[in-house]
Amino acid sequence: MTQNYLLTPGGSLSGTLRVPGDKSISHRALLLGAIARGRSEIDGFLASEDCLATMSALRAMGVTIERDGEHVVVHGVGLRGLAAPDTVLDLGNSGTAIRLLAGLLAGQDFDSELVGDASLMQRPMRRVADPLNMMGAQVDTVDGRPPLRVQGGRSLKGIDYTLPVASAQVKSAILLAALYASGETLVRGSGVSRDHTERMLMSMGVNLTVDDDGTIHLLPDQAPESMDMRVPGDLSSAAFFLLGGCLAAREALVVEGVGLNPTRLGVLGILEAMGADIRIERRRMEGREPVGDLHVQRAALKGIDIPPALVPLAIDEFPAIFVAAAAAQGVTRISGAEELRHKESDRIAVMASGLRTLGIEVDEQPDGAVIHGGRLGGGEINSHGDHRIAMAFAMASLVAGAPIRILDTANVATSFPGFPELAAGAGLNLQVEAS
Ligand code: S3P
Repeated sequence: MTQNYLLTPGGSLSGTLRVPGDKSISHRALLLGAIARGRSEIDGFLASEDCLATMSALRAMGVTIERDGEHVVVHGVGLRGLAAPDTVLDLGNSGTAIRLLAGLLAGQDFDSELVGDASLMQRPMRRVADPLNMMGAQVDTVDGRPPLRVQGGRSLKGIDYTLPVASAQVKSAILLAALYASGETLVRGSGVSRDHTERMLMSMGVNLTVDDDGTIHLLPDQAPESMDMRVPGDLSSAAFFLLGGCLAAREALVVEGVGLNPTRLGVLGILEAMGADIRIERRRMEGREPVGDLHVQRAALKGIDIPPALVPLAIDEFPAIFVAAAAAQGVTRISGAEELRHKESDRIAVMASGLRTLGIEVDEQPDGAVIHGGRLGGGEINSHGDHRIAMAFAMASLVAGAPIRILDTANVATSFPGFPELAAGAGLNLQVEAS
Protein backbone atom coordinates (compact mmCIF):
# COMPACT_ATOMS: atom_id res chain seq x y z
CA MET A 1 0.00 0.00 0.00
CA THR A 2 1.31 3.48 -0.83
CA GLN A 3 0.32 6.85 0.52
CA ASN A 4 -0.53 10.07 -1.35
CA TYR A 5 -1.40 13.62 -0.32
CA LEU A 6 -4.34 15.45 -1.82
CA LEU A 7 -4.10 19.23 -1.50
CA THR A 8 -6.84 21.65 -2.34
CA PRO A 9 -6.10 25.32 -2.94
CA GLY A 10 -7.24 28.15 -0.72
CA GLY A 11 -5.34 27.26 2.45
CA SER A 12 -3.48 29.82 4.52
CA LEU A 13 -1.18 29.38 7.51
CA SER A 14 -1.29 30.88 10.98
CA GLY A 15 -0.48 30.09 14.58
CA THR A 16 2.50 29.05 16.66
CA LEU A 17 3.99 25.62 16.19
CA ARG A 18 7.03 23.48 16.89
CA VAL A 19 8.66 21.15 14.40
CA PRO A 20 10.26 17.85 15.48
CA GLY A 21 13.89 17.57 16.54
CA ASP A 22 16.87 18.02 14.27
CA LYS A 23 17.65 14.90 12.25
CA SER A 24 21.41 15.41 11.97
CA ILE A 25 21.78 16.08 15.70
CA SER A 26 19.53 13.16 16.69
CA HIS A 27 21.65 10.66 14.69
CA ARG A 28 24.83 12.02 16.23
CA ALA A 29 23.45 12.00 19.78
CA LEU A 30 22.72 8.27 19.43
CA LEU A 31 26.05 7.38 17.81
CA LEU A 32 28.22 9.39 20.21
CA GLY A 33 26.09 8.44 23.22
CA ALA A 34 26.61 4.78 22.29
CA ILE A 35 30.42 5.00 22.37
CA ALA A 36 30.53 7.22 25.44
CA ARG A 37 30.90 5.46 28.77
CA GLY A 38 27.71 5.71 30.84
CA ARG A 39 24.28 7.13 30.48
CA SER A 40 23.31 9.98 28.13
CA GLU A 41 19.84 11.51 28.14
CA ILE A 42 18.46 13.10 24.98
CA ASP A 43 15.37 15.33 24.99
CA GLY A 44 13.62 16.45 21.84
CA PHE A 45 14.92 13.41 19.94
CA LEU A 46 13.56 13.05 16.40
CA ALA A 47 11.69 9.73 16.40
CA SER A 48 11.65 9.53 12.60
CA GLU A 49 12.32 6.43 10.52
CA ASP A 50 15.87 7.58 9.67
CA CYS A 51 16.91 8.10 13.29
CA LEU A 52 15.12 4.92 14.39
CA ALA A 53 17.25 3.04 11.81
CA THR A 54 20.39 4.32 13.55
CA MET A 55 18.88 3.31 16.88
CA SER A 56 18.14 -0.24 15.66
CA ALA A 57 21.66 -0.61 14.27
CA LEU A 58 23.18 0.40 17.63
CA ARG A 59 20.86 -1.94 19.52
CA ALA A 60 21.96 -4.74 17.17
CA MET A 61 25.51 -4.02 18.40
CA GLY A 62 24.57 -4.48 22.03
CA VAL A 63 23.76 -0.89 23.06
CA THR A 64 20.80 -0.54 25.40
CA ILE A 65 18.66 2.42 24.34
CA GLU A 66 15.36 3.29 26.01
CA ARG A 67 12.90 5.59 24.28
CA ASP A 68 9.73 7.21 25.54
CA GLY A 69 8.49 9.47 22.73
CA GLU A 70 11.12 12.18 22.28
CA HIS A 71 13.00 11.25 25.43
CA VAL A 72 15.85 8.79 24.93
CA VAL A 73 18.35 7.25 27.32
CA VAL A 74 21.47 5.74 25.75
CA HIS A 75 23.53 3.42 27.94
CA GLY A 76 26.93 3.97 26.35
CA VAL A 77 29.28 1.02 26.08
CA GLY A 78 32.54 2.96 25.68
CA LEU A 79 34.79 3.32 22.66
CA ARG A 80 35.57 -0.42 22.47
CA GLY A 81 32.31 -1.83 23.81
CA LEU A 82 30.26 -2.44 20.64
CA ALA A 83 29.47 -6.10 19.89
CA ALA A 84 29.33 -7.80 16.49
CA PRO A 85 25.81 -7.60 15.03
CA ASP A 86 24.41 -10.94 13.99
CA THR A 87 22.54 -9.44 11.03
CA VAL A 88 23.15 -7.11 8.16
CA LEU A 89 22.43 -3.53 9.32
CA ASP A 90 19.55 -1.99 7.33
CA LEU A 91 19.61 1.82 7.39
CA GLY A 92 16.44 2.29 5.35
CA ASN A 93 16.41 5.63 3.52
CA SER A 94 19.15 7.27 5.58
CA GLY A 95 22.36 8.51 3.98
CA THR A 96 23.48 9.99 7.29
CA ALA A 97 23.04 6.67 9.11
CA ILE A 98 24.92 4.56 6.56
CA ARG A 99 27.82 6.99 6.09
CA LEU A 100 28.38 7.84 9.75
CA LEU A 101 28.11 4.18 10.73
CA ALA A 102 30.67 3.26 8.06
CA GLY A 103 33.14 5.51 9.88
CA LEU A 104 32.27 4.13 13.31
CA LEU A 105 32.42 0.52 12.12
CA ALA A 106 35.76 0.98 10.32
CA GLY A 107 37.49 1.01 13.73
CA GLN A 108 35.79 -2.05 15.28
CA ASP A 109 37.24 -5.53 15.63
CA PHE A 110 34.29 -7.23 13.89
CA ASP A 111 32.98 -7.34 10.31
CA SER A 112 29.72 -5.68 9.34
CA GLU A 113 27.54 -5.10 6.30
CA LEU A 114 25.33 -2.05 5.68
CA VAL A 115 22.36 -1.87 3.32
CA GLY A 116 19.28 0.31 2.79
CA ASP A 117 16.14 0.83 0.73
CA ALA A 118 16.03 1.16 -3.07
CA SER A 119 16.97 4.87 -2.92
CA LEU A 120 19.89 4.40 -0.50
CA MET A 121 21.24 1.45 -2.53
CA GLN A 122 21.75 3.89 -5.44
CA ARG A 123 23.59 6.59 -3.52
CA PRO A 124 27.33 7.28 -3.85
CA MET A 125 29.52 5.68 -1.16
CA ARG A 126 33.07 6.00 -2.56
CA ARG A 127 33.21 9.47 -1.02
CA VAL A 128 33.18 7.78 2.38
CA ALA A 129 34.94 4.48 1.55
CA ASP A 130 37.96 6.22 -0.04
CA PRO A 131 39.09 8.30 2.96
CA LEU A 132 38.34 5.46 5.39
CA ASN A 133 40.44 3.08 3.28
CA MET A 134 43.24 5.69 3.24
CA MET A 135 43.16 5.40 7.04
CA GLY A 136 43.81 1.66 6.70
CA ALA A 137 40.18 0.50 6.90
CA GLN A 138 38.69 -2.04 4.52
CA VAL A 139 35.36 -0.66 3.37
CA ASP A 140 34.10 -2.19 0.12
CA THR A 141 31.29 -0.88 -2.04
CA VAL A 142 29.63 -2.53 -5.02
CA ASP A 143 30.48 -0.21 -7.92
CA GLY A 144 30.57 2.73 -5.53
CA ARG A 145 27.19 2.00 -3.94
CA PRO A 146 25.91 -0.07 -1.01
CA PRO A 147 26.03 -2.73 0.27
CA LEU A 148 29.00 -1.51 2.27
CA ARG A 149 31.11 -4.34 3.66
CA VAL A 150 33.32 -3.20 6.51
CA GLN A 151 36.11 -5.52 7.62
CA GLY A 152 36.94 -5.39 11.30
CA GLY A 153 40.25 -5.80 13.10
CA ARG A 154 42.18 -3.30 10.95
CA SER A 155 44.57 -0.85 12.55
CA LEU A 156 43.69 2.64 11.48
CA LYS A 157 46.06 5.58 11.22
CA GLY A 158 45.30 9.28 11.17
CA ILE A 159 45.18 11.06 7.79
CA ASP A 160 45.42 14.59 6.50
CA TYR A 161 42.41 14.78 4.20
CA THR A 162 40.91 17.54 2.08
CA LEU A 163 37.22 16.96 1.43
CA PRO A 164 36.50 16.90 -2.32
CA VAL A 165 32.80 17.66 -1.68
CA ALA A 166 31.37 19.79 1.13
CA SER A 167 29.87 16.82 2.96
CA ALA A 168 29.19 16.69 6.69
CA GLN A 169 28.49 12.98 6.40
CA VAL A 170 31.95 12.27 4.98
CA LYS A 171 33.64 14.59 7.47
CA SER A 172 31.77 12.93 10.35
CA ALA A 173 32.61 9.42 9.17
CA ILE A 174 36.31 10.35 9.13
CA LEU A 175 36.09 11.92 12.61
CA LEU A 176 34.38 8.82 14.04
CA ALA A 177 37.05 6.54 12.53
CA ALA A 178 39.74 8.96 13.76
CA LEU A 179 38.76 8.19 17.37
CA TYR A 180 40.11 4.67 16.72
CA ALA A 181 43.22 5.62 14.70
CA SER A 182 46.82 6.05 15.74
CA GLY A 183 48.10 9.59 15.27
CA GLU A 184 46.36 12.82 14.54
CA THR A 185 43.65 13.24 11.86
CA LEU A 186 43.23 16.51 9.97
CA VAL A 187 40.15 17.25 7.88
CA ARG A 188 40.35 20.27 5.60
CA GLY A 189 37.83 22.11 3.48
CA SER A 190 34.93 21.47 5.78
CA GLY A 191 34.08 25.06 6.71
CA VAL A 192 30.84 25.10 4.79
CA SER A 193 29.31 21.80 5.85
CA ARG A 194 27.25 21.42 9.01
CA ASP A 195 29.42 21.12 12.12
CA HIS A 196 27.16 19.29 14.58
CA THR A 197 29.65 16.43 15.01
CA GLU A 198 32.45 18.79 15.96
CA ARG A 199 30.24 20.68 18.44
CA MET A 200 28.97 17.48 20.03
CA LEU A 201 32.41 15.87 20.31
CA MET A 202 33.71 19.02 22.02
CA SER A 203 30.78 19.11 24.41
CA MET A 204 31.54 15.47 25.29
CA GLY A 205 35.07 16.42 26.33
CA VAL A 206 36.91 15.30 23.20
CA ASN A 207 39.91 17.45 22.38
CA LEU A 208 39.01 18.59 18.86
CA THR A 209 40.21 21.91 17.52
CA VAL A 210 39.25 23.92 14.46
CA ASP A 211 41.70 26.38 12.88
CA ASP A 212 40.60 29.73 11.47
CA ASP A 213 40.62 28.22 7.96
CA GLY A 214 38.24 25.45 9.11
CA THR A 215 40.85 22.65 9.37
CA ILE A 216 39.82 20.15 12.04
CA HIS A 217 42.40 18.37 14.23
CA LEU A 218 41.49 15.27 16.23
CA LEU A 219 43.75 13.11 18.36
CA PRO A 220 42.82 9.43 18.74
CA ASP A 221 41.78 7.27 21.66
CA GLN A 222 39.60 9.88 23.27
CA ALA A 223 36.42 8.35 24.59
CA PRO A 224 33.57 10.86 24.57
CA GLU A 225 32.07 11.47 28.00
CA SER A 226 28.36 10.79 28.37
CA MET A 227 26.17 13.87 28.47
CA ASP A 228 22.60 15.11 28.59
CA MET A 229 21.32 17.22 25.74
CA ARG A 230 18.28 18.86 24.21
CA VAL A 231 17.87 18.55 20.42
CA PRO A 232 16.60 21.78 18.81
CA GLY A 233 13.80 21.80 16.24
CA ASP A 234 15.01 20.98 12.73
CA LEU A 235 15.48 24.08 10.55
CA SER A 236 15.18 21.80 7.51
CA SER A 237 11.65 20.84 8.65
CA ALA A 238 10.82 24.42 9.67
CA ALA A 239 11.82 25.49 6.14
CA PHE A 240 8.54 24.12 4.72
CA PHE A 241 6.60 26.35 7.11
CA LEU A 242 8.83 29.32 6.28
CA LEU A 243 7.99 28.73 2.63
CA GLY A 244 4.31 28.31 3.42
CA GLY A 245 4.35 31.46 5.57
CA CYS A 246 5.97 33.51 2.78
CA LEU A 247 3.30 32.28 0.36
CA ALA A 248 0.21 32.45 2.55
CA ALA A 249 0.57 33.45 6.20
CA ARG A 250 -2.71 34.95 7.40
CA GLU A 251 -0.97 36.65 10.30
CA ALA A 252 2.55 35.94 11.55
CA LEU A 253 3.30 32.24 11.57
CA VAL A 254 5.69 31.35 14.39
CA VAL A 255 7.95 28.30 14.51
CA GLU A 256 9.44 28.00 17.99
CA GLY A 257 12.68 26.44 19.19
CA VAL A 258 14.42 26.00 15.84
CA GLY A 259 18.15 25.19 15.56
CA LEU A 260 20.07 28.10 14.03
CA ASN A 261 23.52 26.63 13.58
CA PRO A 262 25.40 29.03 11.24
CA THR A 263 26.28 26.16 8.88
CA ARG A 264 22.56 25.63 8.23
CA LEU A 265 21.32 29.20 7.69
CA GLY A 266 21.51 29.40 3.88
CA VAL A 267 17.75 29.07 3.49
CA LEU A 268 17.17 32.21 5.57
CA GLY A 269 19.65 34.22 3.49
CA ILE A 270 18.14 32.98 0.22
CA LEU A 271 14.51 33.59 1.19
CA GLU A 272 15.38 37.02 2.58
CA ALA A 273 17.16 37.94 -0.67
CA MET A 274 13.93 36.92 -2.45
CA GLY A 275 12.00 39.38 -0.30
CA ALA A 276 10.83 37.16 2.58
CA ASP A 277 9.87 38.74 5.90
CA ILE A 278 11.40 36.42 8.52
CA ARG A 279 12.34 37.62 12.00
CA ILE A 280 14.35 35.69 14.57
CA GLU A 281 13.29 36.19 18.20
CA ARG A 282 14.46 34.77 21.55
CA ARG A 283 17.90 33.77 20.33
CA ARG A 284 19.52 31.44 22.86
CA MET A 285 21.97 28.55 23.18
CA GLU A 286 20.93 25.00 23.94
CA GLY A 287 24.18 23.26 24.80
CA ARG A 288 26.52 24.22 21.96
CA GLU A 289 23.77 24.81 19.38
CA PRO A 290 22.13 28.22 18.78
CA VAL A 291 18.32 28.22 18.80
CA GLY A 292 15.58 30.81 18.19
CA ASP A 293 11.93 31.36 17.27
CA LEU A 294 11.14 32.20 13.65
CA HIS A 295 8.34 34.64 12.81
CA VAL A 296 7.31 34.71 9.18
CA GLN A 297 4.83 36.99 7.41
CA ARG A 298 3.41 36.72 3.93
CA ALA A 299 5.57 38.58 1.39
CA ALA A 300 5.79 39.06 -2.37
CA LEU A 301 8.83 37.04 -3.47
CA LYS A 302 11.08 37.97 -6.37
CA GLY A 303 13.47 35.86 -8.43
CA ILE A 304 17.21 36.05 -7.70
CA ASP A 305 20.52 34.51 -8.73
CA ILE A 306 21.30 32.29 -5.77
CA PRO A 307 24.91 32.84 -4.70
CA PRO A 308 26.73 29.47 -5.08
CA ALA A 309 28.43 30.11 -1.71
CA LEU A 310 25.03 29.71 -0.01
CA VAL A 311 24.28 26.36 -1.69
CA PRO A 312 26.03 24.04 0.82
CA LEU A 313 24.49 26.03 3.69
CA ALA A 314 21.00 25.33 2.31
CA ILE A 315 21.59 21.95 0.69
CA ASP A 316 18.50 20.22 2.13
CA GLU A 317 16.22 23.20 1.56
CA PHE A 318 16.30 23.32 -2.25
CA PRO A 319 12.98 21.56 -2.77
CA ALA A 320 11.38 24.42 -0.75
CA ILE A 321 13.54 27.01 -2.55
CA PHE A 322 12.44 25.65 -5.99
CA VAL A 323 8.81 26.19 -4.95
CA ALA A 324 9.57 29.71 -3.63
CA ALA A 325 11.21 30.48 -6.99
CA ALA A 326 8.22 29.11 -8.90
CA ALA A 327 5.87 31.38 -6.94
CA ALA A 328 8.18 34.42 -7.18
CA GLN A 329 7.98 37.17 -9.73
CA GLY A 330 10.85 36.90 -12.22
CA VAL A 331 13.61 34.39 -12.81
CA THR A 332 15.62 32.46 -10.21
CA ARG A 333 18.93 30.87 -11.17
CA ILE A 334 20.34 28.00 -9.12
CA SER A 335 23.91 26.87 -9.90
CA GLY A 336 26.72 25.02 -8.17
CA ALA A 337 24.17 22.55 -6.79
CA GLU A 338 25.10 19.30 -8.55
CA GLU A 339 25.01 17.55 -5.13
CA LEU A 340 21.20 17.79 -5.30
CA ARG A 341 21.31 14.98 -7.85
CA HIS A 342 22.70 12.61 -5.16
CA LYS A 343 20.08 13.06 -2.45
CA GLU A 344 17.10 10.80 -1.65
CA SER A 345 16.10 11.45 -5.27
CA ASP A 346 17.66 13.49 -8.08
CA ARG A 347 16.19 16.68 -6.65
CA ILE A 348 16.99 18.82 -9.68
CA ALA A 349 15.20 16.48 -12.10
CA VAL A 350 12.28 15.67 -9.79
CA MET A 351 11.61 19.30 -8.82
CA ALA A 352 11.90 20.47 -12.43
CA SER A 353 9.45 17.84 -13.62
CA GLY A 354 6.97 18.50 -10.80
CA LEU A 355 7.03 22.26 -11.35
CA ARG A 356 6.50 21.78 -15.09
CA THR A 357 3.43 19.69 -14.24
CA LEU A 358 2.13 22.73 -12.36
CA GLY A 359 2.71 24.91 -15.43
CA ILE A 360 6.01 26.54 -14.47
CA GLU A 361 8.81 26.92 -17.00
CA VAL A 362 12.04 25.35 -15.73
CA ASP A 363 15.31 24.97 -17.64
CA GLU A 364 17.21 22.13 -16.05
CA GLN A 365 21.01 22.49 -15.86
CA PRO A 366 23.60 19.87 -14.84
CA ASP A 367 24.24 21.77 -11.58
CA GLY A 368 20.98 23.59 -11.00
CA ALA A 369 18.04 25.14 -12.80
CA VAL A 370 16.59 28.35 -14.14
CA ILE A 371 13.06 28.76 -12.81
CA HIS A 372 10.65 31.23 -14.39
CA GLY A 373 8.23 32.31 -11.68
CA GLY A 374 4.56 32.28 -12.61
CA ARG A 375 1.08 31.14 -11.70
CA LEU A 376 0.95 27.60 -10.37
CA GLY A 377 -1.76 25.25 -11.55
CA GLY A 378 -2.65 21.81 -10.24
CA GLY A 379 -1.87 18.25 -11.25
CA GLU A 380 -0.38 14.94 -10.15
CA ILE A 381 3.20 14.96 -8.93
CA ASN A 382 5.42 11.98 -8.22
CA SER A 383 7.61 12.66 -5.17
CA HIS A 384 9.73 9.59 -6.00
CA GLY A 385 9.56 8.64 -2.34
CA ASP A 386 11.57 11.75 -1.40
CA HIS A 387 10.26 13.30 1.83
CA ARG A 388 11.40 16.83 1.10
CA ILE A 389 9.94 16.84 -2.44
CA ALA A 390 6.56 15.79 -1.00
CA MET A 391 6.54 18.50 1.70
CA ALA A 392 7.69 21.24 -0.71
CA PHE A 393 4.89 20.50 -3.19
CA ALA A 394 2.37 20.32 -0.35
CA MET A 395 3.21 23.97 0.43
CA ALA A 396 2.95 24.87 -3.30
CA SER A 397 -0.79 24.21 -3.01
CA LEU A 398 -1.12 27.44 -0.98
CA VAL A 399 -0.76 29.41 -4.22
CA ALA A 400 -1.95 26.82 -6.76
CA GLY A 401 -5.03 27.38 -8.87
CA ALA A 402 -6.25 23.76 -8.76
CA PRO A 403 -5.82 20.63 -6.59
CA ILE A 404 -2.44 18.91 -6.37
CA ARG A 405 -2.08 15.19 -5.73
CA ILE A 406 1.38 14.13 -4.53
CA LEU A 407 2.21 10.47 -4.99
CA ASP A 408 4.39 8.26 -2.77
CA THR A 409 4.48 10.39 0.37
CA ALA A 410 5.00 7.76 3.09
CA ASN A 411 8.70 8.63 3.35
CA VAL A 412 7.83 12.00 4.89
CA ALA A 413 8.06 9.94 8.10
CA THR A 414 11.82 9.52 7.52
CA SER A 415 12.36 13.10 8.72
CA PHE A 416 9.05 14.65 9.76
CA PRO A 417 6.61 12.34 11.52
CA GLY A 418 3.31 14.16 11.99
CA PHE A 419 3.83 16.59 9.10
CA PRO A 420 0.35 16.17 7.57
CA GLU A 421 -1.37 16.75 10.92
CA LEU A 422 0.81 19.74 11.85
CA ALA A 423 0.42 21.34 8.41
CA ALA A 424 -3.34 20.77 8.33
CA GLY A 425 -3.61 22.19 11.87
CA ALA A 426 -1.82 25.36 10.68
CA GLY A 427 -4.24 25.76 7.77
CA LEU A 428 -3.02 23.69 4.81
CA ASN A 429 -5.87 21.86 3.01
CA LEU A 430 -4.18 18.46 3.12
CA GLN A 431 -5.73 15.03 3.14
CA VAL A 432 -3.75 11.80 3.37
CA GLU A 433 -4.95 9.10 0.98
CA ALA A 434 -4.05 5.42 1.04
CA SER A 435 -3.84 3.83 -2.40
C1 S3P B 1 23.73 15.54 6.74
C2 S3P B 1 24.56 16.09 5.78
C3 S3P B 1 24.09 16.49 4.44
C4 S3P B 1 22.57 16.60 4.38
C5 S3P B 1 21.89 15.44 5.05
C6 S3P B 1 22.29 15.34 6.51
C7 S3P B 1 24.31 15.15 8.02
O1 S3P B 1 24.52 15.53 3.50
O2 S3P B 1 22.14 16.69 3.04
O3 S3P B 1 20.48 15.55 4.97
O4 S3P B 1 23.53 14.90 8.99
O5 S3P B 1 25.54 15.07 8.11
P1 S3P B 1 26.00 15.56 2.83
O6 S3P B 1 26.98 15.21 3.87
O7 S3P B 1 25.91 14.51 1.75
O8 S3P B 1 26.14 16.93 2.29
